[in-house]
Amino acid sequence: MAKILHIQASPREGSYSSLAADAYLAAHLAKNPGDTVETLDVWTADLPHFDGPTLEARYAAASGQTHTPAQAKAWGAIVKQIEHFKSFDAYVVSFPMWNFSVPYPLKQYVDVIAQPGQTFGWAADKGFFGLVTGKPVTIFAASAGNYAPGTGAAAVDFATPYLEWVFKFFGFTDVRTMRVGPTVGAPDALDAMKAATVKQAQELAA
Ligand SMILES: Cc1cc2nc3c(=O)[nH]c(=O)nc-3n(C[C@H](O)[C@H](O)[C@H](O)COP(=O)(O)O)c2cc1C
Repeated sequence: MAKILHIQASPREGSYSSLAADAYLAAHLAKNPGDTVETLDVWTADLPHFDGPTLEARYAAASGQTHTPAQAKAWGAIVKQIEHFKSFDAYVVSFPMWNFSVPYPLKQYVDVIAQPGQTFGWAADKGFFGLVTGKPVTIFAASAGNYAPGTGAAAVDFATPYLEWVFKFFGFTDVRTMRVGPTVGAPDALDAMKAATVKQAQELAA
């Protein structure tokens, strides 16, 4: 009866990363009919901006100061997103590589939920430690190019290693990634890539 959050970061109809995540989730639900999936589309979600009052609220909270009314309102919106994030048992993230990194609303979501005392902590004797533990995340990363480890382009993939590290920083130890693509080519090659993507995502769910 696990609650799964699908963080979806492609705004595109016919998205390759969404295709992979949807195939994975459909296969997972077929095996685990009691589980539920909620999709958080970072493009349409009402994500708070990390603006001045929000930033001041973060620093005030860290130094034990009382929030002003503006800071309290701003911080409330942040905590609401974090509580929503933490209320799930498992996570799926699907995103396209954009300019070697992740699309900016996905970065915004990470900046909203990455807060001390909420998703990570720090102690003098052990440094940083994650506060969201015992939960898995499966990442579907689509790109036009091939950035897999061992390729010449791997060094400029600032998307997948970034996202994997963010979840590890939050305390996740079960972090799996499936690369989707390369997503450019002749129509026949793309059809074959899509069929292979769906098959691989289904196998991952098994
Ligand atoms: C603004 C933008 C930037 C992109 N930057 C890259 C890039 O740096 N490297 C790459 O391989 N593909 C890049 N692409 C291509 C996408 O990653 C590729 O089309 C991917 O399949 C899109 O995934 P989606 O179908 O899930 O949206 C870019 C596409 C867009 C629209």
